[in-house]
Amino acid sequence: MRAMQYPDYGAEPKLVDLPVPEPGPTEVRVRVSHTSVNPVDWKQASGKIRLVMPQPRPCVPGYDLSGIIDAVGERVKSFTAGDRVHIRIPMSGAGANAEYAVVPADHAVRLPDTMDMVTAAALPLAGMTALQGLRDVLQLDLDGDTRRVLVIGASGGVGHLAVQIAAAAGAEVVGVCSGRNADLVRSLGCRDVIDYTQPGCWAGVAPFDLVYDCVAGDPSPYLEYIKRGGAYASCMPGPATFLHAANVFSGKRVRPVLLHGNAPDLATLDKLFAEGKLRAVIDRHFGLAELPAAWAYSQSGRARGKIIIDVATG
Ligand SMILES: NC(=O)c1ccc[n+]([C@@H]2O[C@H](COP(=O)([O-])OP(=O)(O)OC[C@H]3O[C@@H](n4cnc5c(N)ncnc54)[C@H](OP(=O)(O)O)[C@@H]3O)[C@@H](O)[C@H]2O)c1
Repeated sequence: MRAMQYPDYGAEPKLVDLPVPEPGPTEVRVRVSHTSVNPVDWKQASGKIRLVMPQPRPCVPGYDLSGIIDAVGERVKSFTAGDRVHIRIPMSGAGANAEYAVVPADHAVRLPDTMDMVTAAALPLAGMTALQGLRDVLQLDLDGDTRRVLVIGASGGVGHLAVQIAAAAGAEVVGVCSGRNADLVRSLGCRDVIDYTQPGCWAGVAPFDLVYDCVAGDPSPYLEYIKRGGAYASCMPGPATFLHAANVFSGKRVRPVLLHGNAPDLATLDKLFAEGKLRAVIDRHFGLAELPAAWAYSQSGRARGKIIIDVATG
């Protein structure tokens, strides 16, 4: 099978020919239709985060995939060949950027009938990070919550899904992005947009109950815009996140978001999709062999929504 693989940290992924993998007893094999790029893919490949997120090498990168099951392990009862599924492969695995991938059956989710394979590849990692950051860390009530929510990085992979999830809950959502993405994030549910490229853009901004930072991990610039009793969460946590998290006297909760991929949360995203409350914005498509170009585009920091790899056709 065709697969993109890098031999070691720091090396570019190259197209290689690998044997089609056999599923273990609790795994399914998926004929991959599409994958999507997440910044963690190229961060891990660089080796710069190997101490916290090591990867076996050689490595077929990629955690998100959609496709059709073509073989099931002997103990798998929940799926059969022909099922349309998507998955965020657990961190110990990767392997999405190949024509076939074996994945743990208990992380795979059958697609809603109306979900296309591109959306299915776009949603898992970024969508669950958006969902868990809002629901579990910031404690937004998905069943109804009218509080003021700020999403920083509202046009990115995680942010554009966070905007929609918060808006679907009933929140008053404000997005931070550059002016070129203002119309997009409004169309996703932002009542207002702060264009961070404009001087004085924070003048007169009313305080927020919840702030979800999908760009950086330092709450300092935003603390004055968070109400007492409010909260800040970052999916890019750094030393500043943990320093502020330790300050129990500020009256403002600061917390990191660390994704725990799981099938029930993926199914929650699928339900929102089926109800018409969540869609994936797709920026660009690349072929499988173009993975390095797709990573370079992701590294630019300018992606609007998700970057898709067309594995079956590319
Ligand atoms: N902790 C976890 O478990 C976890 C999970 C998923 C992702 N992450 C991390 O979260 C980060 C975001 O991931 P992603 O997939 O959303 O990235 P992404 O899609 O590459 O984000 C790109 C977006 O960021 C926006 N942006 C860049 N600088 C900005 C700024 N100063 N203010 C506001 N928006 C800005 C850009 O909008 P403009 O072009 O308009 O500036 C662009 O639309 C990554 O670092 C990723 O590694 C962590």
